[in-house]
Amino acid sequence: MNLVVLGAQWGDEGKGKIIDFMSSVADVVVRYQGGNNAGHTVVLGDKKYVLHLIPSGILHEGRSCVIGNGVVIDPGYLLEEMAYLAKNGIGLDGNLHISENAHVIMPYHKLLDRLAEEKSSKKGKIGTTSRGIGPCYTDKAARLGVKMADLLDKATLTEKVKASLEVKNYLITKYYGAKGFEAGQVVKEYLAYGAKLKKYIGNTYVLLQRAAAKNKKILFEGAQGTMLDVDFGTYPYVTSSNPTAGGACTGAGFSPSLIDKVIGVTKAYTTRVGEGPFTTEMPVELNEDFRGRGNEFGATTGRPRRCGWLDMVVLKHAHAVNGFHSLAVTKLDVLSGLNELMVCEAYRYRGKKLYDFPANIGVLRECTPVYRAVKGWKENICDVKTYVKLPGNTKRYIDMITGMSGVPVSMFSVGPDRDQTVITDKGLWK
Ligand code: IMP
Repeated sequence: MNLVVLGAQWGDEGKGKIIDFMSSVADVVVRYQGGNNAGHTVVLGDKKYVLHLIPSGILHEGRSCVIGNGVVIDPGYLLEEMAYLAKNGIGLDGNLHISENAHVIMPYHKLLDRLAEEKSSKKGKIGTTSRGIGPCYTDKAARLGVKMADLLDKATLTEKVKASLEVKNYLITKYYGAKGFEAGQVVKEYLAYGAKLKKYIGNTYVLLQRAAAKNKKILFEGAQGTMLDVDFGTYPYVTSSNPTAGGACTGAGFSPSLIDKVIGVTKAYTTRVGEGPFTTEMPVELNEDFRGRGNEFGATTGRPRRCGWLDMVVLKHAHAVNGFHSLAVTKLDVLSGLNELMVCEAYRYRGKKLYDFPANIGVLRECTPVYRAVKGWKENICDVKTYVKLPGNTKRYIDMITGMSGVPVSMFSVGPDRDQTVITDKGLWK
């Protein structure tokens, strides 16, 4: 049984918690795209862990955790995260496997990410996490990238860094007026990272194939979300990878024929960080209210998240792209205490109703939400352990999500702790 769990919105859907929950049953947990731009928060007892790169499955003893070829890795950061886990008594040896084909975030990628954002006009800014993600994927596609395998081979690394810096240094110094890099220094630093990571680097797609052949349970954890997908998101206000279900196959080297289920994670409302159109964004006061009640601050950058009502146009778009078997609805408790909730069922564009998510960013900018008002609930639901025990209006809210999206809800969460996740489909792993 192999499952993909991914974000149905703009990331930050609370996937970390759902993935951690599902990892308790999985044998292998795999990251397949993105890098340390992601931030998965998991609360264990009174301790909160925020992981940016290593699959959160590592928090369960004995899980094999794979960083797949589709991920971009900042090795300096990875070593810090490994040290953070080791300090907390979490073992990595024999459990962590890093694809030799994963691309490496180089120091010039991070600098270029920052310089490009700084130079952009307000309208052109993406609001990136400045982790070098976009420039690293750019080099991968341009065939100028450095792979993890190259960190173990001085000659190849030197050749690649020199070739890449020939153009990058010109851009950095002449166009941006910043200080360039010296190839020898970069090679030295990255070979040292390679030496430290060597025992974890290897062929991870064969490892996954073997696990699948032995009927192991493999969990693919998406980072970011469908609306940040470079093909199907709100381009150009997206990340540079494919957080969608297809990305799990290319980003891990895993056949689509072996994937049994795809689970979409959606908040009971919507948030996004960074720039770009956001049709159901709430007015300033309500936005602030939600930020407070939902603690909506980015796990990676600490930036305040923009808050909005649940957008069914987005959710249906995400279902069309990913083919969800079921949904996990998170942060349902955050809606408690509101008299009325808004749910966006269509967009209005120049007097016409749109039910499909527009590909044109200019059209999207002009869209306004067509809301359906639904009744809220007053009750605190943080301790609810079954669907049946939910207040009537909460049940109706969940049922409405299923009715409008055509996707059953297999679990929902009512708070940050592990035991605040309620499974409504007992056959999830079957
Ligand atoms: P990048 O991935 O750093 O290039 O940033 C591109 C866009 O994706 C920006 O709007 C970021 O705020 C957003 N983004 C990247 N990673 C995450 C995430 O894990 N959660 C939410 N938004 C993200």
